[in-house]
Amino acid sequence: MNSFGRLFRLNIFGESHGELIGITLDGVPPGIPLTLNDFKTDIERRKPTQKGTTARTEDDMPEIVSGVFKDYTTGAPLTILFKNKNVRSDDYSEIAQFFRPGHTDFVAYKKYKGFNDVRGGGHFSGRLTLVLVAAGVVAKKIIKPIAITTKIVEVGGSSDIETAISRALEQNDSVGGVVECVAENMPISLGEPFFDSLESLLAHAVFAIPAIKGIEFGSGFELARMYGSEANDVFIDRQGHTLTNHSGGIHGGISNGNPLVFRVAVKPTSSIGVAQKTFHFKNEQMESVLIQGRHDACIALRVPVVLEAVTACVLADALLMTKAYDSNNAQD
Ligand SMILES: Cc1cc2nc3c(=O)[nH]c(=O)nc-3n(C[C@H](O)[C@H](O)[C@H](O)COP(=O)(O)O)c2cc1C
Repeated sequence: MNSFGRLFRLNIFGESHGELIGITLDGVPPGIPLTLNDFKTDIERRKPTQKGTTARTEDDMPEIVSGVFKDYTTGAPLTILFKNKNVRSDDYSEIAQFFRPGHTDFVAYKKYKGFNDVRGGGHFSGRLTLVLVAAGVVAKKIIKPIAITTKIVEVGGSSDIETAISRALEQNDSVGGVVECVAENMPISLGEPFFDSLESLLAHAVFAIPAIKGIEFGSGFELARMYGSEANDVFIDRQGHTLTNHSGGIHGGISNGNPLVFRVAVKPTSSIGVAQKTFHFKNEQMESVLIQGRHDACIALRVPVVLEAVTACVLADALLMTKAYDSNNAQD
């Protein structure tokens, strides 16, 4: 459904061109200092200011409507809202006539029997990643001293990111990319064997970010090409630090105290300024279509701060779960 997490639980709502988008966070510990100013940096980082990002701009001012009193979290559900102001719904008036290739239009129409809000992707829109970023701001406070960083490592298969984006823009096309996430100061013990492994929880949340199509931990798919003698991370001290980190800081689904490292694959934006021949469901024939609207040419450019946020939310939940487990099993 639209919620995630056990003890730190997210519930997202809203549509791209509706009145607002928002998130309710349940399980936020009381007494965490929180003001609107805390959201500024990460919200600015998500804004489409770079070459290759959409022309739609919003002020993205958060409103905290519950869960904070006198600049501290209260422990009650914390709800953050963002009004949608810069909407141009006319750009989407034709979606009811045909389904855009690579988009959610077809599946949303089928699943919700034509009642879904089609404007700007409705509830499926990348705009909803703004509320994930807001949740991340709170989660990052819960997980301190864990520090998460992200960087774009390649675009269109090249480490020359600028050139790859310029080339796509020249052709009115879009391009994908790979984003890497690293979490330092990781405690040992986050995650469970089997279904709630830290990899499973991260993948579960990361695939909530629209346009993410792959994830690999540590050396990931490269491990399948290695010998065990190359792949094993040998220990170098009593704390469990390892010489290499091919496993990305997780063994048996549980964090091992080394940095958590994973990469995600972001697909090229589906909306492109190139005509595409696709089946027109109303006219019942193959037709050439050109997508309208304002779009990111490279979604990967927008993903780093969103990926950090989602990672922080997963780690906050896992940390609270581990603390609950530890206090239940404390020896007298
Ligand atoms: C931050 C962000 C911005 C996005 N901007 C666009 C966009 O401008 N145009 C577009 O076609 N898709 C955009 N997307 C991707 C679509 O939301 C996504 O591809 C679509 O919902 C289909 O989901 P799927 O690719 O995960 O199957 C964006 C995604 C994110 C995370």
